[in-house]
Amino acid sequence: MSNSERVHVELCKGASGLDKVVLRDRGSSAEVYLYGGHVTSWKNEHGEELLFVSSKAIFKPPKAIRGGIPICFPQFSNHGPLEPHGFARNRFWSIDIDPPPFPTQSSSKAFIDLILKPSEEDLKIWPHSFEFRLRVTLGPGGDLMLTSRIRNTNTDGKVFTFTFAYHTYFSVSDISEVRVEGLETLDYLDNLQNKERFTEQGDAITFESEVDKIYLRTPTKIAILDHEKKRTFVIRKDGLPDAVVWNPWDKKAKAMADFGDDEHKHMLCVEAAAVEKSITLKPGEEWRGRQELSTVPSSYCSGQLDPQRVLQSS
Ligand code: BG6
Repeated sequence: MSNSERVHVELCKGASGLDKVVLRDRGSSAEVYLYGGHVTSWKNEHGEELLFVSSKAIFKPPKAIRGGIPICFPQFSNHGPLEPHGFARNRFWSIDIDPPPFPTQSSSKAFIDLILKPSEEDLKIWPHSFEFRLRVTLGPGGDLMLTSRIRNTNTDGKVFTFTFAYHTYFSVSDISEVRVEGLETLDYLDNLQNKERFTEQGDAITFESEVDKIYLRTPTKIAILDHEKKRTFVIRKDGLPDAVVWNPWDKKAKAMADFGDDEHKHMLCVEAAAVEKSITLKPGEEWRGRQELSTVPSSYCSGQLDPQRVLQSS
């Protein structure tokens, strides 16, 4: 075992001198910036990057990093009066050195606890006191787990409500060869059509133009099949009933300053989210939302969502 493999958690400097934490376990790794509490890298044991980060991403506050896993809180997108996707993704988080007990079955040593509390400025934007604890864990098998615990710490007796998303950008070889399973026949709100509600058809979802949909009350497990890579991403989620699917396609790609003109071909956002029904917390109450990402080798056939088949193919 090399020295670097022995270090499970390392704090170092990333792009633009920003602090980042590197997690390592048996050849796989993940990187988390304190800016945004933002996961920017997740690599398997072969060193292959599994998340998409734009080559034009700007690692400079107040711009949120384009790619990886931005945290959308306390508002998803423009579904409310705040700035799109809220402010957690462009605030500096701290390392939580003494987090409350964490119920976990993982034996992993490669994890980090971060915490975000509102500043005086934040309280002017969203007048609520909260503690947002984020644990990022790299499991022994290379799985990536994110658990958010959000507590209402208001002392004035006020409840608060919020919406939330793990805005995960997956790296894919060619978007036109990708399909998503687990969202067939579900209702969705189409952001490209004034958030109107539609029902998805029965086939797995494929991509040939811009998509920006919020699938409602989805199963806890969704799969992204990358035909060319023969790789399936499996997303498991808990406390997050919805799933947003986003690809900007060519026109919007060109309009974004921090996104390459052709990069939409190599990414897909599937976001574990709570959007349709906002979450309400009374003072002292805590909400928990978790996503677990893993990969399994796959062939271009359906049925990957059957747990037995997923296990057999790994
Ligand atoms: C998605 C939204 O989650 O994020 C889209 O559904 C939005 O509407 C996209 O365009 C990117 O948002 P941003 O703020 O990171 O450019």
